[in-house]
Amino acid sequence: MFHFRNLMIAASALALTAGAAQAQEVITVAHAISAQSHYGAGARAFIAKLEELSGGKYTGKEAPAGTLGGERDMIEGLQIGSIDVVITSSGPLGNFVPEVYALDLPFLFRDYAHARKTLDGEVGQELLAKISENNLVGLAWSENGFRHITNSKNAIAGPDDLKGLKVRTMENKVHMKAFTDMGAAPTPMAFPEVFAALQQGVVDGQENPIPVITASKFWEVQKHISLTGHVYSPAIVLASPIRMDALSEEERGWFMEAAKASVAATRAEVDKQEREGVQLMKDNGMEVTMTVDKEAFAKIAEPSYEIYTSQYGPEMIERIRAVQ
Ligand code: PAF
Repeated sequence: MFHFRNLMIAASALALTAGAAQAQEVITVAHAISAQSHYGAGARAFIAKLEELSGGKYTGKEAPAGTLGGERDMIEGLQIGSIDVVITSSGPLGNFVPEVYALDLPFLFRDYAHARKTLDGEVGQELLAKISENNLVGLAWSENGFRHITNSKNAIAGPDDLKGLKVRTMENKVHMKAFTDMGAAPTPMAFPEVFAALQQGVVDGQENPIPVITASKFWEVQKHISLTGHVYSPAIVLASPIRMDALSEEERGWFMEAAKASVAATRAEVDKQEREGVQLMKDNGMEVTMTVDKEAFAKIAEPSYEIYTSQYGPEMIERIRAVQ
């Protein structure tokens, strides 16, 4: 009798454990760069916070390095529900939500403080709401960083040095127009293809923030980096509307908090790479051009603003510039 009772207790404990294990849901958190990057830090912080707040009901699995495709593919994955959460630059997002192009304009943000304040404030919230009207859920603005040009041919100090260079850009029409105006031959390409394209000489260069360049070890295939800072590249934590619609209000709150934790971790890693990345690139043999004629680049790139203003007018740009 005693043995039978113990057996029953053990069996029900086992059943409870199995039940709990079955109930645990695994959220996929995907991004296009290495797990050692600022997005990797953000993905892990998202998962840890979600696990903590949900008491283990949710856990997560990071899918880094474009294992689930380039950023455009992953955004489509969110829309059809094959991916739960994506950390992506705003680069391909304008193809889905054109209002977001306002954030991709060259030489718009003055510095990191300006960009973060804008994205955390009214403008950022309005744009998140717009995104959520377009079969996506914008959980929080995160960060990629100020973009700089690397290439295998020559140092770039001004627009003349960029003439004729084949530069991989994101699949973003504002960026492509700016690079055309600045004299380069822009070649849009999904990020997972970029390293091989640089290695094989399909393109001469690419442009990305320091944390991307260091995490991708671009010094293996690029000789020069010029600190052009030609555009601030926001990132965003996006979720699938299919996943989010199936959640209770409390659970949705957990996802929002997890996104905030992700943003904090990503920004901290961007800050670290901004402090240490230039030296790391030099140590790995890159030639760094620190002095760049940004005014000349900014002037030449001005017509790219029309892609946004011809449709939406100048108001949003003025509001962004006014953020102090
Ligand atoms: O260059 C890009 O496509 C993006 O900046 C990257 C590296 C995927 C990060 O969002």
